[in-house]
Amino acid sequence: MRVVGFHQPGEPEVLEVIDLPDPSPSEGEVRIRVHAASVNPTDTSLRSGKSIGSSDEEPGVHVPGMDAAGVLEEIGDGVETDLSVGDHVMAIVTPSGTHGAYSEHIVVPIESVALAPRGFNHVQAATLPMNGLTARLALDTLALEAGSVLAVTGAAGTMGGYAIQLAKKDGLTVVADAKEDDEERVAGLGADLVLRRGDEFPRLLQEQYPDGVNGVIDGALMLEKIVPAVRDGGTIITVRGHDEPAERDITFKPIWVADYSRAPGKLDALRQHAEDGTVTLQVADTFPKDQAPEAHRRQEAGGVRGRLVLEF
Ligand SMILES: NC(=O)c1ccc[n+]([C@@H]2O[C@H](COP(=O)([O-])OP(=O)(O)OC[C@H]3O[C@@H](n4cnc5c(N)ncnc54)[C@H](OP(=O)(O)O)[C@@H]3O)[C@@H](O)[C@H]2O)c1
Repeated sequence: MRVVGFHQPGEPEVLEVIDLPDPSPSEGEVRIRVHAASVNPTDTSLRSGKSIGSSDEEPGVHVPGMDAAGVLEEIGDGVETDLSVGDHVMAIVTPSGTHGAYSEHIVVPIESVALAPRGFNHVQAATLPMNGLTARLALDTLALEAGSVLAVTGAAGTMGGYAIQLAKKDGLTVVADAKEDDEERVAGLGADLVLRRGDEFPRLLQEQYPDGVNGVIDGALMLEKIVPAVRDGGTIITVRGHDEPAERDITFKPIWVADYSRAPGKLDALRQHAEDGTVTLQVADTFPKDQAPEAHRRQEAGGVRGRLVLEF
């Protein structure tokens, strides 16, 4: 099978199409013929050698990719599932060595797989698992009561967008950040209030909520800057590991989507949310696998709205 991977981390050009043996499912696993794999910030971090705890400098081929969509093609021994060979599915992938979603075929635990949302193609389905599960994990970790006020930074991004939509479904009041060009897009996701992004966002937030918001999902990595806008004892969800103590009993809680990589009920709920319109699947552009370097350049340049997706 052909994968997109690299031997040594570096610039986007290190990505190449490489031939590897087809994987076979072991006990408890299934094999998917991948047709689409989305490009996420974590993939560009892995490729450039900037991932936290990454093993990408070990010799051998490294295949990025945490989101796969395609056709279920083989079910391993000991798998109990309602899924059948031929079903259109989506999966979250935890990359390691040659195991990553940028592959024609991938083997994953059955718990990492769900039916793809009906009415959407593989490319659209590939935008959902990783960031949908991250947004879900962030909200579950915050565990705010309905009616609480949640701020979302990086709201124009894929994870931030799902966070807004799922938070509204949970009955929260959502304040999101956006630059002028993104205001309509972010409001369209259901945010109750959209304030200008950047260093002025915490002050604007404080003007609206003088006692502070109950929680923050900090997709834009504002970290300490957002603390003044949070009420005493509030929680800030961080997505790159920040967990320093903060003032006034405010807690930074890091989350890792790997904790939901075997949460089939959560993934299937996202499928239902896509089908009923609670979450919208947004594709910025598609690339054939041999143009993966260009996809990574676009992702790293910023300004992408919706997800870039590689087709296999
Ligand atoms: N911990 C985990 O398990 C986990 C899982 C998924 C994602 N993540 C992380 O979560 C973050 C968001 O992921 P994503 O996929 O949503 O990324 P994304 O689609 O690239 O979105 C990030 C958004 O933040 C915006 N942004 C950049 N700087 C900003 C600033 N100073 N103020 C406000 N907004 C700003 C970006 O705008 P521009 O395009 O204009 O720069 C973009 O719209 C990334 O750091 C990713 O690595 C972590």
